[in-house]
Amino acid sequence: MDLNLLTICYLIGSVTFILGLKMLSNPATARRGNLIAAAGMLIAIGGTIFLYRNTETGDHLHNYAWIFGGLLIGGVIGTLAARKVKMTAMPEMVSLFNGMGGACAALISLVEFNHLSRELYSNYSAEYISSIQPTVLIIVLGLIIGSVSFAGSIIAWGKLNGKVKDFSFTGQNILNLIILAVALGAGAFLVIHPEHNFLLYAILALALTYGVLFVMPIGGADMPVVISLLNSFTGVAAACGGFLYNNKVMLTGGILVGAAGTLLTILMCKAMNRSLINVLVGSFGGSNNSASISGGKDQGNYKEISLSDAAMLMSYATKVMIVPGYGLAVAQAQHACHELEKVLTEKGVEVNYAIHPVAGRMPGHMNVLLAEADVSYEKLEDMEQANDEFKTTDVVLILGANDVVNPAAKNDPDSPIYGMPILEVELAKNIIVNKRSMKPGYAGIENDLFFQPKTSMLFGDAKKVLQDLLNEVKNV
Ligand code: TAP
Repeated sequence: MDLNLLTICYLIGSVTFILGLKMLSNPATARRGNLIAAAGMLIAIGGTIFLYRNTETGDHLHNYAWIFGGLLIGGVIGTLAARKVKMTAMPEMVSLFNGMGGACAALISLVEFNHLSRELYSNYSAEYISSIQPTVLIIVLGLIIGSVSFAGSIIAWGKLNGKVKDFSFTGQNILNLIILAVALGAGAFLVIHPEHNFLLYAILALALTYGVLFVMPIGGADMPVVISLLNSFTGVAAACGGFLYNNKVMLTGGILVGAAGTLLTILMCKAMNRSLINVLVGSFGGSNNSASISGGKDQGNYKEISLSDAAMLMSYATKVMIVPGYGLAVAQAQHACHELEKVLTEKGVEVNYAIHPVAGRMPGHMNVLLAEADVSYEKLEDMEQANDEFKTTDVVLILGANDVVNPAAKNDPDSPIYGMPILEVELAKNIIVNKRSMKPGYAGIENDLFFQPKTSMLFGDAKKVLQDLLNEVKNV
């Protein structure tokens, strides 16, 4: 192998990506892992810009104004967006950035096919066509996967910020399959007959339409699976770019993202207790198709608890389990929550956190949120662990969580979240639920838990409630 400086840059890039990914799997090392992988990416990009030489002509890159112009604009927008984004809007931003990756891969395919088309025009022969067919295959795959990922991620972004509503119609799955089959068929035809270059734009339109239609009906509780799947699509589309340019670091990066996204998809499917096919064609979890939707049936009465009673109950408990959910992130109450945990621990109470794998709006959302407030990683219990602990727990304090503790997932076969494993908080002696109202969570369904005799509601914004509760606990 030609071990020139650029190859070494790419090797460093690839190693840092793997190292970064490994470090991301633990909250204690995640931040450093992210920086290491970003530094590796910088080295790979810098190496390409300054050290790349065309193997045939020896030419280096041209168009520096375009390259640096793009880097500057993208860098400024990315930095400002990442600095300004609120923690609760993070999942949307991740979805949007993922879509941009898909769009880049699709654009690469469009540009490279254009180059090939021009050469084909001046060099038309059966030999030339057969020599470019493998490249056209990669171009078509990159275009289809990248466009689906782009369009799907934009819809997912809209769904996460509430601007796009679930939408489905009878026969939608069949239509989706037909569109995908036509796009793949047109792609295969283009590989065989690359001279029909207009087909590329038809494939682009079909893939974009498929991306929109495929995510549109996937509702509420299934979004985590779709987001991870789109993430893996972007990785595969980027890997196609790596093949196209014979660029090792792009290939490694794309494969790593594709593999990580696929593993995450499998984990998310497990967390929701659903098969991938079921998620993709079932359009389950939508917020408009169930009798158990808010207001659909009479749930009975709920009872409230005062701050002083809640403080008393928790201060005299032996074991308290905190269940964080999306509302804790909305309220940015993670620091107040950690304070409460510390004060209770000083009083001799054992306090832990029960983490549901899809709590919040992105994989690992609650882990990141609590890590931000320096909550010890040892205090976080995963769903299985926590479910074993609830029967010996005196008080469960639910902070802005709803769907992940909804017993309908176990008891109501008509519920759109039926089958999803939940945190079985009803096993504990007392349950205190903090939220602002009786409104449903992301899946749009009522929660029976709030009406059970063991449950007491503590209404209010999580931050304010936790601060007040903290003062009360200090005075007990
Ligand atoms: P949700 O079911 O969405 O419930 C959050 C609750 O927080 C709401 O009921 C809301 O009630 C309350 N809340 C909002 N703001 C609050 C505030 N300032 N203070 C106190 N409470 C507040 O959350 P969850 O239990 O974490 O479940 C996550 C859901 O999102 C699941 O359905 C999951 O499938 C879906 N999802 C997850 C992901 C990933 S990857 N994690 C991605 C997409 C979707 P009020 O309005 O009454 O306050």
